[in-house]
Amino acid sequence: MKRRSFLIIILLCVLTQGILALPKVHVIATGGTIAGTSSGSGYTAGQVTIDNILAAVPDLSKIAELDYEQFCNIGSQDMNETIWLSLSKRINELFATGKYDGIVITHGTDTMEETAYFLNLTTRSDKPVVLVGSMRPSDAPDADGPKNLIVAVKAAADKKNVGKEVMCCLNQKLFEASGVFKNNSRDVDAFAAIKPDYTMPHGSKVGFDVTEVEKLPNVGIIYGYAGCSTLPLQAFVDANFEGVVLVGVGDGNFRADVQKIAEKAVAHGMKIVRSTRCPHGGVYTEGGEVEDLELGFIAAGSLNAQKARILLMLALTQTKDTDQIRQYFNKPIALQTVKK
Ligand code: DGL
Repeated sequence: MKRRSFLIIILLCVLTQGILALPKVHVIATGGTIAGTSSGSGYTAGQVTIDNILAAVPDLSKIAELDYEQFCNIGSQDMNETIWLSLSKRINELFATGKYDGIVITHGTDTMEETAYFLNLTTRSDKPVVLVGSMRPSDAPDADGPKNLIVAVKAAADKKNVGKEVMCCLNQKLFEASGVFKNNSRDVDAFAAIKPDYTMPHGSKVGFDVTEVEKLPNVGIIYGYAGCSTLPLQAFVDANFEGVVLVGVGDGNFRADVQKIAEKAVAHGMKIVRSTRCPHGGVYTEGGEVEDLELGFIAAGSLNAQKARILLMLALTQTKDTDQIRQYFNKPIALQTVKK
């Protein structure tokens, strides 16, 4: 009888442990205002380390068991492709351990949409990845970082978010990577989202495998305006960039002189993607003023220029075929692995 009671107690302990065990979330810190401190008339991003950021939000320990690492500590205006590649590989490595239910990345808001979109295309697990930032520095009396961190860790720990796109958290709201953009340069509620042509939740069967990629192809962006100079595009051509995203006026249109240079560049192998200055409406091959199929241009669809650049860079690790690249812009991408 005693042996039976003992076994029942052990079983109950194990069950209780399992039920009460908190989700395990890994936090990767990259900097931003959420790690910023007030300075002079404003603030400096990327000053506080992640241990101190998390220590300032004790309620996090009731939500998840946290591991953390300081990956870098920069204003996200200094984010770049090299860090993206390392960050994506690190996330894949962490999820491959099987130890984590989700990952949170603290990040500046200026380029968060770009990092989120890159990670959505290149991370292999379908578990939640949530980038989180703030618009006020960590030492502000009304700092918004702590509340955003709580929302982000909860989202990363929530199994209901398995199978979603990489998310961004700001103003205690969550946005998926394909649609989110920074809509206001100063407001706490700085992010908004368009309805993307398609969503593609990150996972093992979609996107681009960057395991073997050490450097991404050079792709630039040019902003269009009345009387737009031809110099920037010519400079990218002269520098042998593999691609350029043209941020056109209206429905992705450019001044005739600029378009002529773009047509010549395509003939010499450069990939040209047409995007738009307009925050809504996108750019499509049909129904516009530019004959993409005839001129060899690629329409960005609903992607803004900075995300179109990311997709073109990754596409160029796979193919130089314009029609194949157009497909990447039109629909979810079956996993593409870089051939050695
Ligand atoms: N330097 C900007 C950045 O790191 C500050 C903006 C912010 O993080 O909210 O993106």
